[in-house]
Amino acid sequence: MRHFIVLCILLGISYSSPITPLPLHIKTDSEKVALGKALFFDPLLSKDGTISCASCHDVYNGGDDGQKFSTGIKGQKGSINAPTVLNAVFNFRQFWDGRAKTLQEQAAGPIENPVEMGNTFKNLIQTLKHSSYNKQFMKIYKEGVTKENITDAIAEFEKTLITPDTPFDNYLRGDKNAITQEQKEGYALFQSKGCIACHHGRNVGGNMYNKFGIIVTIQDDNLGRYNVTGNESDKHFFKVPSLRNIALTAPYFHNGSVKSLKEAVYFMAKHQVGRPISKEEVAKIIAFLHALTGNIPQSMESH
Ligand code: HEC
Ligand code: HEC
Repeated sequence: MRHFIVLCILLGISYSSPITPLPLHIKTDSEKVALGKALFFDPLLSKDGTISCASCHDVYNGGDDGQKFSTGIKGQKGSINAPTVLNAVFNFRQFWDGRAKTLQEQAAGPIENPVEMGNTFKNLIQTLKHSSYNKQFMKIYKEGVTKENITDAIAEFEKTLITPDTPFDNYLRGDKNAITQEQKEGYALFQSKGCIACHHGRNVGGNMYNKFGIIVTIQDDNLGRYNVTGNESDKHFFKVPSLRNIALTAPYFHNGSVKSLKEAVYFMAKHQVGRPISKEEVAKIIAFLHALTGNIPQSMESH
């Protein structure tokens, strides 16, 4: 990477960052967003009326639940760490193993997952038809309340859960003082240590699968992407997570095995890049990662 940058400078080519800033806005349908937002926060979606999407995805605080494994209806525990919904629209696939192609497809999952919301669409459609939601659905969608339309509205709302105003995005957009000297050094290390090979693009991840434990093998029962494809070569592969708002989303990894960002960075250096890393270098990388924390999404400010 360093040679590449030097070469670019020598050849007079302007060097563009392997991380690009997020768009400040995404076009959305405001009526669908309002409906999707109400649904996202409504425990009515779960079988016993106790759990909403927001129970596990706190959009005011990192977009996850801060637990190792999430808690669904009747206190049931899941077996995988909840990722953030913030900026999920920028991921190339949804879920750790990428089994959903779109946000809309993803949104159907938790509603019928027995340890999450434990409902059925058959039941939920009846509930919504006999509630004040019916009118809202009829106004927006010709067919009224259907599975397709419930998930469409939720996905439309999720498109507004973006955090494009981080110090690092402002830096990339040209404000050279938006991040500190330590954070600049951290970003240089993030590149020279090889983190950038997997965590890049506008979401600083979320655009490919890679093996959890590529240099040093990790004992792990979850076979990840293999569960979807059945391909031997996909064993222990997971979607490389976005590192946006990472300072807010402990604990880390799909198995929630690591409590602090410091441990996570040491773990990555050892298992994913296999290079020694000093205490000072880790501190700088962490400083850089803090520059990826954004403000609460605009759509949530007046809630
Ligand atoms: C009981 C907790 C719980 C509830 C309720 C819940 N989720 Fe999740 N969510 C999770 C967990 C755990 C995962 C990761 C599952 C996996 O990858 O297999 C996840 C994954 C996601 C993802 C994928 C993010 C990514 O980067 O891959 C999105 C988007 C999401 N949930 C949105 C929602 C929406 C919308 C609802 C409501 C319809 C919802 N969630 C309800 C726990 C929950
Ligand atoms: C070869 C690809 C690869 C490289 C290189 C890499 N990572 Fe990762 N990173 C991953 C994958 C895959 C995961 C998800 C692991 C899991 O939980 O299954 C991950 C997870 C993480 C997480 C936790 C994210 C979360 O939401 O729980 C952090 C933090 C992280 N990486 C930081 C780094 C840093 C810092 C470096 C450089 C020292 C680095 N990574 C290098 C692939 C990589």
